Amino acid sequence: MSRVAYVNGQYLPHCSGAVHIEDRGYQFADGVYEVMAVVGGFLLDEGPHLMRLARSLAELQISAPMSNAALRIVMREVIRRNGVHNGIVYVQITRGVAARDHGFPKAAGPVLVVTSRWKRPADPRAVNDGVAVITIPDIRWQRCDIKSVALLPNVLGKQRAKEAGAFEAWQVDREGKVSEGTSTNAWIVTLDDTVVTRQADSAILNGVTRLAVLDIIRREGYGFVERPFSVAEAKSAREAFLTSTVVDLLPVLRIDGTAVGNGEPGPLSRKLRECYLAHAASAK
Ligand code: PDD
Repeated sequence: MSRVAYVNGQYLPHCSGAVHIEDRGYQFADGVYEVMAVVGGFLLDEGPHLMRLARSLAELQISAPMSNAALRIVMREVIRRNGVHNGIVYVQITRGVAARDHGFPKAAGPVLVVTSRWKRPADPRAVNDGVAVITIPDIRWQRCDIKSVALLPNVLGKQRAKEAGAFEAWQVDREGKVSEGTSTNAWIVTLDDTVVTRQADSAILNGVTRLAVLDIIRREGYGFVERPFSVAEAKSAREAFLTSTVVDLLPVLRIDGTAVGNGEPGPLSRKLRECYLAHAASAK
């Protein structure tokens, strides 16, 4: 089955889907995006993703290209045309096409692109053996709560992780506290079994997976606190893990080469992963 993309009103072969050379997303990274999981043909946590998308658009004063009801239809059609059962949907909205000038254009309308692809099942080694992270300075802007397509620091950070043989890079703010990964949220479990993740302020993206895992933690009655934690605290934590739509929940076993806990996926990370997968399986 050949891939199909939705590009501003048209369903096109993926290979010929294109936007204008003066699209502001291309020239200024003036746009936002969402990545949603497709589980068993259904979109997981579609409501929270659409809410976050609306928030990102509003923060940047980009108008929505269509209603949520229409966007839901387009996403389903893209999933259907691509025959995706388990995978992701990518939604990108830019401010539109206009002659290059930094200020907002008067006469440009938002440009919407929707794609979907199959996702390989999580590497069982990553799940069973956990992953390694490195730490790097957080060099991003001060509105990381907006899911902007301006991802250059994230790209550079992920590349550094890759070159260091790690899965992810945890970004560290000027106070020495971990903000988040380059495309994942960061978590630790303290020695007294309290789950800690940074509060959702403008230093992090408030992950939809993060919110779902927090709900699970509340429901299961585990202790948790939303606050910043330092690299030293993370290295001496009992457990650590990371979350995102794409990777679900993965145990972190090494931080800058230092083993976390006993160097194996901890019981709480395993339990929370199990509960999250059950939540994902109930997507309808
Ligand atoms: N990234 N933090 C950052 C910086 C992210 O880019 C993401 C998601 C997350 C986790 O958010 P969520 O749980 O809603 O996926 C946290 C997506 C998956 C991406 O850029 O591909």
